[in-house]
Amino acid sequence: MSKVDLKSPFTPEQEKVLLGWTKKYPYTNLGLIEALRSVQDWHRMITPEAASRVADIFSLPFNHVWGVATFFPTFTRWKTGEKRVGVCHGLSCYLKGSDKAEKCLEKTLGVPKKQATPDGKLSWETMECLGACEQAPALLVNDRLVGPATEEAIAKLKDLK
Ligand code: FES
Repeated sequence: MSKVDLKSPFTPEQEKVLLGWTKKYPYTNLGLIEALRSVQDWHRMITPEAASRVADIFSLPFNHVWGVATFFPTFTRWKTGEKRVGVCHGLSCYLKGSDKAEKCLEKTLGVPKKQATPDGKLSWETMECLGACEQAPALLVNDRLVGPATEEAIAKLKDLK
């Protein structure tokens, strides 16, 4: 069992959850990804401090944990909103006007890419091909595809708050 770290960025309950992920799978990396998903949910980002504590709990080198945390776009180094809005910037979507949708998102939500609204409810970002090229430019809210990023669809995002 890992030692209690009084400077941990996690609550005692969260520490227990993270410890649980070390035991859940026979392969450490599967548990590690789940642990980082938990951290992303709790903090809406992965900080070096959080990754360092996860590394301690998993008895892994910090660089390994940080490498995983910075490889997958699911994990962010910036604080997302409670709801993450993604507009696809893949080739099909780009050709169908994803740059226009990005400008519309910035104007409608009032914040630049990768920044949460002041109330912390929403943030937006660009993503690579979402596998929905027929709906280009594809719009995602959390993990749910909501169709093309039309001005009307983007305007409705404000109702999500
Ligand atoms: S390029 Fe956007 S969904 Fe495929």
